Parts: sequence; C-alpha cells; structure tokens
Amino acid sequence: MPELRIGNLRTRMPVIQGGMGVGISLSGLASAVASAGGIGVISSAGIGMLEPDFKTNLREANKRALRKEIQKARESTKGIIGVNIMVALTDYDDLVETSGDEGVDMLFIGAGLPLRFSKNLLPDKLKRMHTKIVPIVSSGRAAEIIFQYWGKKYNHVPDGIVVEGPLAGGHLGFKKEQITHSDYTLENLLPDVISVAKTYEHSFEKHIPVIAAGGIFTGADIHEYLQLGVHGVQLATRFVATHECDADIKFKQSYVQAEKDDLILIDSPVGLPGRAIRNTFLTDVSAGVKKPFKCPWKCLRTCNFQEAPYCIALALTHAKRGKLEDGFAFAGANAYRIDRIISVEELFETLLDEYKIASGTRD
Ligand SMILES: Cc1cc2nc3c(=O)[nH]c(=O)nc-3n(C[C@H](O)[C@H](O)[C@H](O)COP(=O)(O)O)c2cc1C
Repeated sequence: MPELRIGNLRTRMPVIQGGMGVGISLSGLASAVASAGGIGVISSAGIGMLEPDFKTNLREANKRALRKEIQKARESTKGIIGVNIMVALTDYDDLVETSGDEGVDMLFIGAGLPLRFSKNLLPDKLKRMHTKIVPIVSSGRAAEIIFQYWGKKYNHVPDGIVVEGPLAGGHLGFKKEQITHSDYTLENLLPDVISVAKTYEHSFEKHIPVIAAGGIFTGADIHEYLQLGVHGVQLATRFVATHECDADIKFKQSYVQAEKDDLILIDSPVGLPGRAIRNTFLTDVSAGVKKPFKCPWKCLRTCNFQEAPYCIALALTHAKRGKLEDGFAFAGANAYRIDRIISVEELFETLLDEYKIASGTRD
C-alpha cells in the first residue's frame, strides 16, 4: 500500500483508526495500530467518565484521563498517535490544549466545524508545536467553510481532511433522510471534498491529503477508495473486534453476534442521528421508556439533558464496560460482517493481502 503523508509525518500503511468514544479507542488500541504502521487515535469523548471522580469533577477528570492515555500510548509505541475531539463537547478547548501540551502528532476534529480556537491555542501555536489538525466533515460545503475561514483568519489551512460517509458508526453528520439517499454515498461525497483540498493545496502550497471513512471494510475497499483519489482511509468498526480494542469483551462480542438487521439508526440526545446495534436498551427508548439520570455535567453543547430520555455519556460508558443492558454499542453499517476477534496485526495482514489481490500486486 502507498504510504500516507501528512505534513512531515509518514505512515507505512495509509490506514487511520477512527477515534471511538466512550473509551473504545484508548491507548491500548491506538498504540497497537500505530505500531502496526497506521495512525492510532485515542477518543477524548467522555474519557473522564472512567475516572473515579467523574461525578463531581468531570472537567478535570477529562483532562487528567486524556493526559494519562496519551502518555501510556507514547510509552507503548514510537508510531503516530492522534486524538479525536468533538467540537460539540463543552470542554473542547481544554481537550485541544491538553493534547497540544502532550505533543500528540495529530488532532482529528469532528461533530461540528472547528472554526474558532481559544486565544492560547490558535492554529498558529499548534502549527509550531507540530500537531497536525485534520477536521472530519460529511460534505464539500463543510470543507470549504473550514478552509476558507482558516485561510482568511489564520493564514493557515488544515493539514488534511477526513470525509465521513453515511455508513460510519457513531454519530453521523447527515439528516436521517440523507443517509440512504444515493447523492450522499461516500463515493459521491468525495469529488467535492477532493476539489476543495486541491484548491487550497495550490493557494497554500502544501499537500492536503483527503481521507475517506465510513463502511470501508476490506483491503479491496481500501484499493477502491485510493483509486478514487483519496490518500488514506479511516476505519473504526473493524478495529472494535480486535484483542487490543479497549472495550469489554461483551462489547466486542456484540459485533460478532450482530446480524445485518440489528444495525439501526437512532436519534441521539446529541441532536444527530447515530448508528448502533439494536438491543433491549434501545428498543425500550424507542418505545418511549425514559432511563432516569442525574446529569453530572453538561458535557455536550447540543444535549438537552432535561428532556433527553437517557444520558448518552453514561449509556456509552456502561457499554464500554460490558453492561449492555444499561447502554448500547455504536457500530458501522458493516459490523454484521465481523465473525471473530483477531489481533490488530492480523487485521493489518489481512487488509494488506486483500489490497494486493485487488491491485494485482500479489506474488
Ligand atoms: C463504537 C464507535 C464509536 C465512535 N465514536 C466516535 C467519536 O467519539 N468521535 C468521532 O469523531 N467518531 C466516532 N466514531 C466514528 C469513527 O471514528 C469512524 O469515522 C467511522 O466509524 C468509520 O466508519 P467504519 O466504522 O465503518 O469504519 C465512532 C464509531 C464507532 C464504531
């Protein structure tokens, strides 16, 4: 496979492991992926929910837990480590700053447009710290808004861009009716984003890799997307069913057991649709059952916690710990194709083998 170049960073494999909250991609998975030649990504969403004082001090708990996970990953690998941060988090600035202070290689920023930064972490500072910034978008229009804003305001543009299509897991940047509409397939979204990246590559004289995400499952898929003009791919669902994934074994087994019909779209309290594996918890919620909770801290700008039927941070934390009766597993549309749990290394070998067959380069 060709290498992926982002600024001065080079990967052996053009594969990024998508950030997965809450607690699904932490230092364990991220460092294994980085050591295997890809980019490993720690998800910062709700990361402090795993600290003992999350109920009283979530803001500090988030920063502390993120710092710890970045340091653990650094101790385990010399590979490339990124952090995924959602703009919709109320402590977004804290998390960007903590990641920058810890010197992570890359920030993947999604669930909103990363336009404004607090004064002490303008992209200029991040640029000096060598942290690459890669927004995650679901349309060429969103990419254009970000690049135009950054260009005018900071005289600097992002170091790459991830385009996430509607087959992804977790929260989706689409309206429900767009998810199944042919205009919004990943391959149909790509040309606009590639064209925005090309425009700004010329004006800012820097290479801006485009990375495709959402439903990419095999090495043949990777080959297909690289042929469509992207420089790399982001996979998440496939990395859940690995020994190194940081979720409880019951979370991973729910992927192995899932059938195609079990992958459903939900209305998340975040205000976006999401894709998850059907279970009793979600069936209850869709039947109108409320799961009472006390909001420890309004962690998401967009969550109307007084009306939400459940707390998504708590539900996802329970799921990470294997308590799926009190939560649910987010998953991409292809999760039903997973039939066993393997190592990250075996997954990379499989992807490489499939890629070689598809590209006709296998001996
Ligand atoms: C369990 C799970 C949790 C996720 N959590 C996040 C998250 O916290 N932030 C984010 O930007 N994307 C999140 N995603 C999306 C992934 O990072 C990725 O872009 C997407 O799932 C790629 O599609 P695939 O899963 O079909 O490979 C999550 C996906 C899954 C499956």
